[in-house]
Amino acid sequence: MVFDPPAPPSGPWIDIGAVEDLPPGTMQRYESEGQRILIANIDGTPFAVDDTCTHEDASLYMGALQGDKVKCPLHGSRFCLRNGRALDEPAEIDLACYPARFQNGQVEIVLARKLD
Ligand code: FES
Repeated sequence: MVFDPPAPPSGPWIDIGAVEDLPPGTMQRYESEGQRILIANIDGTPFAVDDTCTHEDASLYMGALQGDKVKCPLHGSRFCLRNGRALDEPAEIDLACYPARFQNGQVEIVLARKLD
């Protein structure tokens, strides 16, 4: 599978915690000003998406991380964490994605602009 390279981030990087608190194969939820972001460490690479399922108001953080996918706890739709794609019904709308990186032992994301 080929992924388009992400566009450069348009906002400031926000430090949301230590890399050691997000080991490979785990996910965490970050909240800022009412916005909930799910961030996961997939084989040493961080990926950040909206935490709220696009089907109904369910926190994907409460679901299951399955490789590079997260499964919604409410009706079971899976989303790819690499690109936000909704992979199963009933969800039909993709998740918004955000730039994420590991930098100097910290997890950083950009919230100013969603990636397509
Ligand atoms: S709320 Fe997530 S699939 Fe329905």
